[in-house]
Amino acid sequence: MFNHACCRPPPYLFDYYQLLRGKLLPVFNGGLGDRVNNYSPASSYNTATTTSNGGGSSTSAGAAVVEEPSMTSSLTPNLTSCHWSYSDHVGRPLFCCKASPDPRLPVVDFQFPDHSDPIRVRRPVHRLSADFIAKYEKAFAIMKSLPDDHPHNFWRQADQHCLYCTGSYEQTGSDALLFVHRDWLFFPFHRAYIYFHERIIGKLIGDDTFALPYWPWDVPEGMLFPDFYHRGAFNDSERDFSHLIPLHQTADIAFDGVESGLGAADQVAANLAMMYHQMVSGARKPELFMGCRMRPGRAGACDGPGTIELIPHNTMHEWVTNRANPDWEDMGSYYTASRDPSFYAHHSNIDRLWSVWKELHGGRLEFDDPAWLDAAFYFRDENLRLVRVRVRDVLDMSKLRYTYEEIDRPWLETRPKPAVEPKVARGILREMEARNRVLRMPGGAPEAPSGGTSPDFGPGGRMLEEPLRVKVPRPKRVRSAADKAEEEEVLVVYGIEVKRDTFVKFDVLVNAVDEAAVAGPRSREYAGAFVNVNRGVAHGDPHKRKATLKLGITELLEDLEAEADDSIWVTLVPKGGTGVDVTVGGVRIEYLR
Ligand code: C2O
Repeated sequence: MFNHACCRPPPYLFDYYQLLRGKLLPVFNGGLGDRVNNYSPASSYNTATTTSNGGGSSTSAGAAVVEEPSMTSSLTPNLTSCHWSYSDHVGRPLFCCKASPDPRLPVVDFQFPDHSDPIRVRRPVHRLSADFIAKYEKAFAIMKSLPDDHPHNFWRQADQHCLYCTGSYEQTGSDALLFVHRDWLFFPFHRAYIYFHERIIGKLIGDDTFALPYWPWDVPEGMLFPDFYHRGAFNDSERDFSHLIPLHQTADIAFDGVESGLGAADQVAANLAMMYHQMVSGARKPELFMGCRMRPGRAGACDGPGTIELIPHNTMHEWVTNRANPDWEDMGSYYTASRDPSFYAHHSNIDRLWSVWKELHGGRLEFDDPAWLDAAFYFRDENLRLVRVRVRDVLDMSKLRYTYEEIDRPWLETRPKPAVEPKVARGILREMEARNRVLRMPGGAPEAPSGGTSPDFGPGGRMLEEPLRVKVPRPKRVRSAADKAEEEEVLVVYGIEVKRDTFVKFDVLVNAVDEAAVAGPRSREYAGAFVNVNRGVAHGDPHKRKATLKLGITELLEDLEAEADDSIWVTLVPKGGTGVDVTVGGVRIEYLR
């Protein structure tokens, strides 16, 4: 059922965290212990003396050999630290280090492809030719047939994702784990990952113009699961076929874990409205779109995904996956997601949306911060060289010699409207408040303390077993157009704790009279949502942080005519019965430049 060749579960009777850190090695024998820290690959593809095999000639002319890594801490994996990761949902360690390069291999710094190389044009899945699909499928067949320890082997390429996404590595110069999800490394890591994957495929099929397809679930023509992925080497048995065959259901790109029940036309409208939130009104500052600013070291950890990562990224992983599996493998879990060939077209669309967002924001540099720009990842390239690629290397697609065939952006025009006329809504909300029906706070605290903070939900946080409505003060009222352009008003849901590593979703509504009357993203009252995907991070792991959700609401407050108000009413609405698995610390308003 799963592809667990590497991951035989050990006995369960000791401290997993110690195990993960390689501190209980002697407990094991029989092929487990020797794969914990300092994993030494035995194959010829991975030893320090290898030149190349199968992937063509190693043309490292001109590539600089990197000096010894300095011990200043940075958001770069320490290749010698590869260790087990952990899924606490089913209590099972995960091992991805088979794909980790031997740290003794020579490393070359990334170099841009030659400007005379052809530009690879990534096309939408609904416009692919039969020839292209056949060629692309052949590439998967080849990758799946390569020796198990070949870096271009399909499962080893999939493990590359597991390495960076479940915290298999420590950061260079620190024992903090490196995570490329739920923070500002999300877009750059995945861009680099699929960049190399694309070039490897091109090499394997002898086509240096080969370009990955993208799955544009953000436009109506792209909202179906692409049929060709059911074929031959594209197939993955671990999908939710009730969505895909024979119904050809329109994707619910903000999937709650349960069916939306919407007809196709309504689902399309909901999806387009969702895209408007995530690309336009909710993403007016880089941090809102890209994710939180993680810094090196334990103190620098953060857990705050950007808009697109939460929805549709996380939710489409969940919509495709087989939810009958313990960790929602394949697409629904970080450690297995890229074992589904549709992952790459999904991520190609995510990558395209980054470039679209950037274009809408005048092409400006997202963050002028060396911690981000110098963050680096290691990949084996199409010639089997070990390449260190930094975030600063992947910021300009044209230098990477690929582009996206243009499609429409219908979601630019889908600015939502209030479900209830704002003046009427405010009247009702005030009345509910007077009748003590609004603040279901512990102890019934009637008013928020000053200082822009809502009442804190107490040390244990507040479980979301049912919708929770709170009144949140706004530190600043009546802001000028210039203020609003400079500083985005941000609704912050902080101290989000997912109890076990499992799917969780809650929506956030502003000034909603009745959550049942809000038509999801099609209503202006909808501010966004939090979505948790299985991460493979140990519960109780000191590296596990509480998450923060930041939602830009400047435009929403204009449309709800709430800009002059000194507070707003916020409702947190658990979805798909998942509220019992999450607690929230509180809600407040901040301003973000
Ligand atoms: Cu690293 Cu879509 O996941």
